[in-house]
This record gives sequence, structure tokens and C-alpha cells, in this order.
Amino acid sequence: MGTDLILGIETSCDETSAAVVDKGRYVKSNIIASQINLHREFGGVVPELASRKHLELLDRVIKRALEKAEVNFSDLQGIAVTYGPGLVGSLLIGIVAAKTLSWALGLPLIGVNHILGHIYSNLLEHPELKPPLLCLTVSGGHTDLLYTEEWGQYQILGRTRDDAAGESFDKVARFLGLGYPGGPAIERIAETGNSERFPLPRPDLGEDRYGFSFSGLKTAVINLAHNLEQREGNIPEADIAASFQKTVVDILLERVERALKDFPVDKVLLAGGVAANKYLRRRLEEMLKEKRASLYYPSLEYCTDNAAMIAGAGYFLLKQGKTSMLDLDAHPQLKL
Ligand code: KG4
Ligand code: ZN
Repeated sequence: MGTDLILGIETSCDETSAAVVDKGRYVKSNIIASQINLHREFGGVVPELASRKHLELLDRVIKRALEKAEVNFSDLQGIAVTYGPGLVGSLLIGIVAAKTLSWALGLPLIGVNHILGHIYSNLLEHPELKPPLLCLTVSGGHTDLLYTEEWGQYQILGRTRDDAAGESFDKVARFLGLGYPGGPAIERIAETGNSERFPLPRPDLGEDRYGFSFSGLKTAVINLAHNLEQREGNIPEADIAASFQKTVVDILLERVERALKDFPVDKVLLAGGVAANKYLRRRLEEMLKEKRASLYYPSLEYCTDNAAMIAGAGYFLLKQGKTSMLDLDAHPQLKL
């Protein structure tokens, strides 16, 4: 068997990443330079700083990805790059690099939707995975539940109307002074908290059976913390974090359970940064066990932003002839 090596480039947010992946599944290298420390003191990603850092790092990150994979530019079959959604200045750094390489090497350019990348991240460790399946993508920018009958096709069942699931973790953590990124901080402190102490709202979106909304929940948590501080003089962070995390997970699980009734599959995929949450994984696993379905999720390295998932998705797009022209532009609000 020959090789089908794709170089993936990911710069949509605060990780500068390049990867070499064979046949959309086999990771030869996945280099991630995280900017978390750069943004931490500001409590969130500063777009201007992020793009400058991508510009500074990307060249070296690509070089290391090739070295680690022990390949040369001439071994590659295509250049895949995230073109949205994300921060426009950050996306552009990756896109310009990818276009330059594509043009100079005479290789196809493949613009990849970042969310599609998250979904395909599951294939990197489960190459045998085959639809039909349901996939829940939960990250800092998106919350999408979709049904896939075959790779390359998908039906979006529901998405968020306002905040994404990860965004709500980040905002609540910021309010509670737990630092950035919020997801891991909430998960950590929630371990010591009582998740039953504060009942929180779970919006019912009526006919939008699979839709999500997290902004009301975030506001409720902030109001609750304010009131407790006024009444009792302190904020019980651990109990609030645990109650909040439980509510988010209850909401996610309810939608998945509904989808399983309408689309009785035996595989459910979890993807995106929030898929790193162990409490979410455990609760989903328990629920799916009753329904005789299996849960798949990527290991930590492939949950949060990385270029291997972009190279992976890029390979399948290339196979379908879905390549991009050199006028490929950044699409900050791109949807699936
Ligand atoms: O996929 P990702 O790296 O970037 C986006 O595409 O948005 O996801 C980042 C998001 C952040 O909101 C972060 O707080 C959340 O994923 N996250 C978590 C955990 N680890 C990361 N949320 C909950 N629990 C975690 N352990
Ligand atoms: Zn992401």
C-alpha cells in the first residue's frame, strides 16, 4: 500500500499546529504549540496577540511536523488548512502559509471546516469506525449534534442558539475567578463540590428538539453567585461549579437520548474541547450502555484544537474532489 500523506495546518484560535497524517487516519506527527500561557494573564484569547504568535511560530511548527514524520515536502499529496470558523487574523496566517506551500509545491489546497475536523478526530484512533452514527461536537465555539449515514454526508440535528457549551464553561469560570481556559478549571474544582446543591434552569426549546441554549444558564449561575455573596458573604465555588457542570451535561445528554430514539444507531461520537471532560464522558457512557450503544471520543491531544484532525478531514475531502482555489478566504463564522 502506498501513502497518502496530507500536511494539516490549524491556526483558528490559540493553538499553532501542524501535522502529517496518512490516509486520513494514521498520524505521523502532530505538533501543537499552545498559546495558553500567553493569554492566561488576560483571562481569555487576545486575537491580536494570537495572530502575531501564529505568525512567529507556524514556520517552525510545520518544519517540526515534517521532521517528526520523517518526510519531505515532496512526499506530500496535499495541504489541508482550517479556513473557519475562528479568529479572522489567526485563520489568515494558516491560510496564507497553506496557499504558499500549495502553490510552490504544486499540491492541492484543501480548505477544511474546523468543526468537520473535530468530528474526524475520532477516526485517528478508531480507523475502523463506520457510520451510521451520531456525533456531538462540543467546543469553545460550537455545539452541534449531527447524524451521519456515510462519511462525507451529515444531517445537522441541532446546534446552539447562543453560547457554545465550552464558552459557557469559560464564562462561568471567569466569573468565579477560576482562570482560563475555564473547562478544565471547572472540572477540577467540581470534583470537590455538591452537584445537587443548586438546581439550575434547563431551557426547553419546544419544537427545536435537538437545539441548545446555554446563555440563560450562564446568567442564572452568575445571579446565583451574586446573591450568595450578598447573603452569605462568600461564593461556594465548588458547589456552583459542580451544579453548573451537571446541568450542562444533563442538557447535552437529554438531546443525545432524544436523537437516539429517532436515529437508533449503536455508535455515538464525542468531539471538541469539552469532550475532554471526564464527567461528561462518564455520564454519556452510562446512558449509552443502557441503550446498547458505544461511545467514542478522542484522547486529550485530539480533543482540543490540533492539526491532525484537519489533515484527517482534508484527506476525505480530497478523495471527494473537494479542493479549494488559491483565492480561499477566512470564514470566521463558518457553519457546518
Ligand atoms: O476544541 P477547542 O480546543 O477549541 C474550539 O474549537 O473552541 O475547545 C476549547 C473549549 C474551551 O471552551 C475549553 O474550556 C473547553 O473546550 N474544555 C473543556 C475541558 N477542556 C477543554 N470543557 C470542559 N471540561 C474540560 N475538561
Ligand atoms: Zn476546536
